[in-house]
Formats: sequence, structure tokens, C-alpha cells
Amino acid sequence: MKITFLGHAAFALEVEGISLLIDPFLKGNPLCPPGTENLRPDYILVTHGHADHMGDAFAIASRSGSTVVAIAEIASLGAKEGVKTHGMNIGGSFAFGPVRITMTPALHSSSRDGVYLGEPCGFIIAGEGKKVYHAGDTALFSDMSLIGRKGLDLALLPIGDNYTMGPEDAVEAVKLLQPKAVIPMHYNTWDVIKVDAAAFKEKVEKETGVAVHLLTPGQSLTL
Ligand code: NI
Ligand code: MN
Repeated sequence: MKITFLGHAAFALEVEGISLLIDPFLKGNPLCPPGTENLRPDYILVTHGHADHMGDAFAIASRSGSTVVAIAEIASLGAKEGVKTHGMNIGGSFAFGPVRITMTPALHSSSRDGVYLGEPCGFIIAGEGKKVYHAGDTALFSDMSLIGRKGLDLALLPIGDNYTMGPEDAVEAVKLLQPKAVIPMHYNTWDVIKVDAAAFKEKVEKETGVAVHLLTPGQSLTL
């Protein structure tokens, strides 16, 4: 499984020969690496309706024929705008061929242009015998320990504060989730979410022994 960081909360995954894009905020993302205009993912996973997550999901789906996987309300909106969608809801899983995707809770909000777009979520992506958790935008919540019981190889966690949990709560999240590794996200995109990621890495590794990978946009990790 190959995970590529595209800046902010956007990731590209290659698993079981299937390509996924999560929260494709690419146009207008100050951290987006070059070359993303050629991405043609099989599936686009959207955690919630905010512009820095839904981003270019519908536009990429239109030009690539990708299926947008999202909460029912966002899926309905996508269908209305003419893209292929697969609606899910919190707690549900579905096998997209050999890749099983589970929609998890997230403690946040979700809207586009002030219009409510259902509950925000996270995703667990399982394939090739590995499980990756993308937390979406979220606060710390104690049910992360239940998500952790599924046995996570990698957790993608927001640490930028202000809109999501900050570094201190993200350290607690690692303790609840007990993943094998962590990639922090949703930080340093703008001044309001500027944090010291190196200090977060040091604290997590010292207190939990879990490896933290600080990826620069465009960089990949292979599991
Ligand atoms: Ni958000
Ligand atoms: Mn966000």
C-alpha cells in the first residue's frame, strides 16, 4: 500500500491495484505538490463538505469517471451535479472490490456555502492486509479507542488546532488509537493552523513509541 501526502488533508492511496484520493483539496491548496492535475483515481473519499476537503472532488470525478464515496447528503449532492457516487453512513463498511472502506465518526461540522451537508466522518481503508485510518477533521473523542481496536497500521491525524484537535489532544488520540505509525495532517497550510510538527513527533515517539512520519507534500510512505 502506497500513501502519498498531497498537502493539508489530501492523500492519494494505491492499494490492491486500486487508486484512491482522499479529501482532494488541490486547487487553491498552498501546499499542493505539482502534477496532481493528471490524477485519475478510481474512488474519491470525502470526509465532509468544507472546501478544504471536498475541494475538487466533483470536478476530478467528472473528468476521470471516479466514484465519490461520502456521507449520504454529499453523495446526493454529487449525483445531482452529475457525478458517480456511493453514499455511506457512519459505522458502515462496504467492499469496493478487494478494498474495504469503513466510515467512522468525527467530531466536527459539515457544510458547503452555509448549506448543511450531513455528518462529518473519517475512513478506515483496508486492503493488502493493512488498515489505514484517515480521521478527517475532528476533535479528540474517547471512542477513538474503539476505532483503535480494529488494529491500525497507520493513522492520518489532524494536529493544526483551531479547526481540529491540536498537537496536545492529537498525542492523546495516538494513545487511544494505538496505531503502528502516524502521519500528521491539517497543519501549516495557513497561519491559523501553524504548529510545531517536529515537537509533536518527539512527544508522540517519547510517550507512546509510535513512529511519526512528517511527510512533505508529494512524499510517499509504503506500508
Ligand atoms: Ni472542516
Ligand atoms: Mn478542514
